[in-house]
Amino acid sequence: MIKTRIETVNEKYLDRKVLAEAGNILKTGGLVAFPTETVYGLGGDALQRESSRKIYAAKGRPSDNPLIVHICRWEDIGKITRKIPEEARKLARAFWPGPLTMILEKADVVPAETTGGLSTVAVRMPDNPIALALIDAAGGYVAAPSANLSGKPSPTLAEHVAEDLSGRIEMVLDGGAACIGLESTIVDLTEKAPVILRPGFITRDMLEKVLGRPVGEERSLMGMEEGRAPKAPGMKYRHYAPAGEMTVVAGKEQEVTKTIQRLADEKMRAGEKVGILCSRETKDFYRADRVEAAGTREDEAEAARHLYALLRSFDRHHVTCIYSEAFSGEGIGQAVMNRLLKAAGYHIIKTGENRRESE
Ligand code: TXA
Ligand code: MG
Repeated sequence: MIKTRIETVNEKYLDRKVLAEAGNILKTGGLVAFPTETVYGLGGDALQRESSRKIYAAKGRPSDNPLIVHICRWEDIGKITRKIPEEARKLARAFWPGPLTMILEKADVVPAETTGGLSTVAVRMPDNPIALALIDAAGGYVAAPSANLSGKPSPTLAEHVAEDLSGRIEMVLDGGAACIGLESTIVDLTEKAPVILRPGFITRDMLEKVLGRPVGEERSLMGMEEGRAPKAPGMKYRHYAPAGEMTVVAGKEQEVTKTIQRLADEKMRAGEKVGILCSRETKDFYRADRVEAAGTREDEAEAARHLYALLRSFDRHHVTCIYSEAFSGEGIGQAVMNRLLKAAGYHIIKTGENRRESE
């Protein structure tokens, strides 16, 4: 057991002393969790193999699942990549610092432990002053997966990090709630055409507008494809999973609410503790042990922000069975739906003939 220090940091008035200490922990091979605009990250020095090993151990994560290297200045990318395609430059100019991760050819200084043995490296510049100051204080290269135990929803609050990793890491920087709430968009720039490996706040449309050409999407993003290894190794694990068994229900609003309530009633009669994840518009229709609205139908960014905390709250209340309404599958809604489907192990019920996606 390590004693985990929790330090509150205000992003407007950065506490330089605490950040220097945190940077030193990273430089000397320790681990520090920190806020980003997407979710909290579990940081270690990306250029020390031992640090990456410690990250895997602390999370209980398989070591073939590569880490994202976080940088704080564009110029620093040269050291860790073999070549910088013009499109990486364009995307960085448009979206960095921000919720976009680019996959590029890796340089030899990046240890195989950091990239899970791959010849490519994932790079991102987060849009959070605490994160940027920490990366700088640590020497420029911080490997950071989401700061949750493997298989748990990503943390959007420092409390979530403490819940999962207390006693396993040296320090947590508490910078308040993550404002986006879902992990960064990952785009692979090592193939002939750019391909989205994980949807996020930066959408395909936004990428295409900057690049001026079509951007592909990993085919398995919104469904389970058997027998194909996903390009982002992390996408093959059952991530973001609440303890309760989860089902997503899609279709017209009325049919969805009716179906969810019917299934919930059946389960409650059978003695299960049922949680329902819905929108504010439909919340009053439901009766269950816990009914939680993630956001409104119009503002799916709000659902993105609350999703993981709500999944964790179902766990805390020992909910054994969760039903969730589906989301639109457009814009950030696509990322929300991608995470919901993963949490549900791709268990989806489509009511009626008109599915919501086609409305
Ligand atoms: O928003 C985020 O990206 C957060 C914050 C902390 O920055 N980080 C994050 O890291 O979500 P993680 O480790 O939970 O997810 C990283 C994903 C995994 O699915 C991993 O397989 C994929 O990125 N990945 C990393 N390096 C890769 C590479 N070289 N090629 C393909 N996929 C890669
Ligand atoms: Mg993760």
